[in-house]
Amino acid sequence: MIKTSRIVYLIFLIKLTISQIHHRRSDITLNTEKLNQLGSQGQLLLRHIALTTHSCGIAEVPRFRRKFLKHSSATCNDGSPSGYYIRKSHGSSKWIVFLEGGWYCFDQISCSERLRMMNDYMSSRSWPRHRKGSGILSWNPEDNPYYFRANMVIIPYCSSDSWSGTRNSSSKSRDTVSEFSFMGSLILEEVIKELLKKGLRNAKKMLLVGSSAGGTGVLINLDRVADQVRKRAPKVEVRGVVDAGWFLDNEPFKPSPCRDAYTCSPTVGISKGVEVWKPRLPEECVQKYPTEIWRCYFGHRVYPSIKTPVYIIQNLYDAAQIKVDNVFSGFGRSEMGSDQWSYLLRLGEEVKLSLKNASAVFASACVSHDILLKSEWHKMEISGENLAKSVYCWEESNYGDRDRRESRSSCKHQLLDSCPWPHCNCSCPKWRFHGTNEINQYFMKNLAKVMGIEPSKMENIHLCGY
Ligand SMILES: *[C@@H]1O[C@H](CO)[C@@H](O)[C@H](O)[C@H]1NC(C)=O
Ligand SMILES: *[C@@H]1O[C@H](CO)[C@@H](O)[C@H](O)[C@H]1NC(C)=O
Ligand SMILES: *[C@@H]1O[C@H](CO)[C@@H](O)[C@H](O)[C@H]1NC(C)=O
Repeated sequence: MIKTSRIVYLIFLIKLTISQIHHRRSDITLNTEKLNQLGSQGQLLLRHIALTTHSCGIAEVPRFRRKFLKHSSATCNDGSPSGYYIRKSHGSSKWIVFLEGGWYCFDQISCSERLRMMNDYMSSRSWPRHRKGSGILSWNPEDNPYYFRANMVIIPYCSSDSWSGTRNSSSKSRDTVSEFSFMGSLILEEVIKELLKKGLRNAKKMLLVGSSAGGTGVLINLDRVADQVRKRAPKVEVRGVVDAGWFLDNEPFKPSPCRDAYTCSPTVGISKGVEVWKPRLPEECVQKYPTEIWRCYFGHRVYPSIKTPVYIIQNLYDAAQIKVDNVFSGFGRSEMGSDQWSYLLRLGEEVKLSLKNASAVFASACVSHDILLKSEWHKMEISGENLAKSVYCWEESNYGDRDRRESRSSCKHQLLDSCPWPHCNCSCPKWRFHGTNEINQYFMKNLAKVMGIEPSKMENIHLCGY
């Protein structure tokens, strides 16, 4: 059935594939340096090869399939079953388990509002049957050169508790949110239990990854998940990757009344949350802050208690941190005041300082929030070091594979931007400012003013080198 020309073409493709794609045990990664040398023609061809060989016999890109935890008592806020989305890849011994983010709620008002505005974050009733993966969950080797082939799981966030809670709605309590369950930590445990049965127990490595509140969830749960996996499958190595989940419990720029989840400062919001979520937090951290266990949701507080290797990705000027710190409370003012400006500069310094002890970190001086599910995640750079490559390199290091010839000593994973203001570095490319919300636009306009740049020209330049 196959024509001769096709066979010739196929042999050519296979040869090229072998020379350009590293075949490491059962996992394949793309050599992006060689890829760049090939130019655009070569890249297109290679992409085609990677897709065709790796989806061999599959007509379309497989999507993630929804699975409910039907017989589990760990439910979403509203009592509907929790669950996960899975896309298996039989040739790979790596698993990525991704925790979604999306803020939180902590009392009757904030949770009722959330139920109305963000129903899928509290209930599984209208979760779609299938989902697509993007960024580090993408099937496309061009967007995801190091992990496109891994087994992947998305656990949707439907507990509104930063993945920390164990609270059953039917448990007796006198607080005001008794109609809701907050079982984030239990949901994660139940999903891992099920994944172990579905092949995770035969894996070599599992990465627990999360963005925003999901990133905080990784910090809080990582050691317990690693223990849980180790008990059932001692050969699986567990590591964590935290994206935009390293928040500061600092003083906000301006205090604001705690009316809802978005205006309430995180220290106040989280401290209300721990009253109702019945959180499960790392024991060592709780012992350190017995009367303020809410501190354990903040990266630099909980980090010293974490034993499992974890990679921290955090913008020095995280957009969510800027929001909750209420820096732009004078929103509508036409100019950014020098007080706002110096607060921001200090924030960047504080975040950097808080990351000083982190052994694997990528902290760019950009105004942005989460990055891992964006297709640009593999283009981020600090001092010429690429984020995706750095994560991969770190994750592969000390793999316990002493036969590996390839040296990983070139692998840098303590990357902190050193330039002194928001978006100052050429490694903050334009796209990180584009498609942004009104806060960023306001911010950009003011930044231009401070820096003596005509705001209308901001669209076309990098904010670096000034
Ligand atoms: C929550 O409470 C219900 C009713 O008492 C019980 O059946 C269920 O097992 C509980 N779930 C958890 C996770 O404790
Ligand atoms: C870093 O670790 C040292 C020693 O454990 C500790 O004293 C210090 O407070 C830590 N710094 C930060 C910013 O967490
Ligand atoms: C960008 O940051 C790097 C270090 O992260 C520094 O070496 C470089 O000078 C910075 N560039 C600018 C334009 O500030």
